Amino acid sequence: MFSGIARRYDLLNHLLSANIDRRWRNIVADKLRPIIVAGTRTLDVACGTGDLALTLSEAGQTSVIGSDFCRPMLEVAVQKTAQRQSSIPFIEADALHLPFATEMFDVVTIAFGLRNLASVEGGLQELFRVLRPGGSVAILEFSHPVVPGFRALFNFYFTRVLPRIGGFVSGSRGAYEYLPDSVSRFPDQKTLAELMVKVGFKEVAYQNLTGGIAALHLGARPYRN
Ligand SMILES: C[S@@+](CC[C@H](N)C(=O)[O-])C[C@H]1O[C@@H](n2cnc3c(N)ncnc32)[C@H](O)[C@@H]1O
Repeated sequence: MFSGIARRYDLLNHLLSANIDRRWRNIVADKLRPIIVAGTRTLDVACGTGDLALTLSEAGQTSVIGSDFCRPMLEVAVQKTAQRQSSIPFIEADALHLPFATEMFDVVTIAFGLRNLASVEGGLQELFRVLRPGGSVAILEFSHPVVPGFRALFNFYFTRVLPRIGGFVSGSRGAYEYLPDSVSRFPDQKTLAELMVKVGFKEVAYQNLTGGIAALHLGARPYRN
């Protein structure tokens, strides 16, 4: 599905969100800025066309790796990175079986990727595995709007308007019907935070973005006793 929309993915992201997706990624970078310092290693899982990896790389001194299992998305990421004269290695890999050593990264991020995995808990476990003790995780994902009137309005846009525009521009209506479907099946803010704690993360906290259309969950891998 992502192969089919890779070339139009960025355009549609910015169009359908009125560029708010850029602001959300910048918020992730702002939150992580104090820790994405020189000498640290950051992994952006399900990096797609590389927007968050690039944002993090430009916001800090950390060396960033992007991984995704969809080659056409990674091809766009590689092109964009070259255009911005950045150097980020992009690796083709399944988020549920990352080809990285245990405890290898200081920071692990995933943006709009977790809800697509066959197992959300399995994905969280894999993020936890590759993170070093004391390292930080950031999960940016669509969530559940929290203001009732706004929620109804947004749901109308998300389920009725967005699939039509997305389908028209990308040629794949299914991909843009899948989007609201997958979000409705994804745990809400509180449930995701509880799942993170269950997997072993500590200091778990979340922030609603744009009234809860998206949420940013942060956590840390505890040090061993
Ligand atoms: C909605 S896109 C998000 C891309 C990017 N992180 C962003 O913020 O725009 C979801 C991405 O997750 C990737 N993905 C889905 N399931 C995956 C899996 N099991 N392993 C690796 N990548 C996966 C897709 O290929 C796609 O690039």
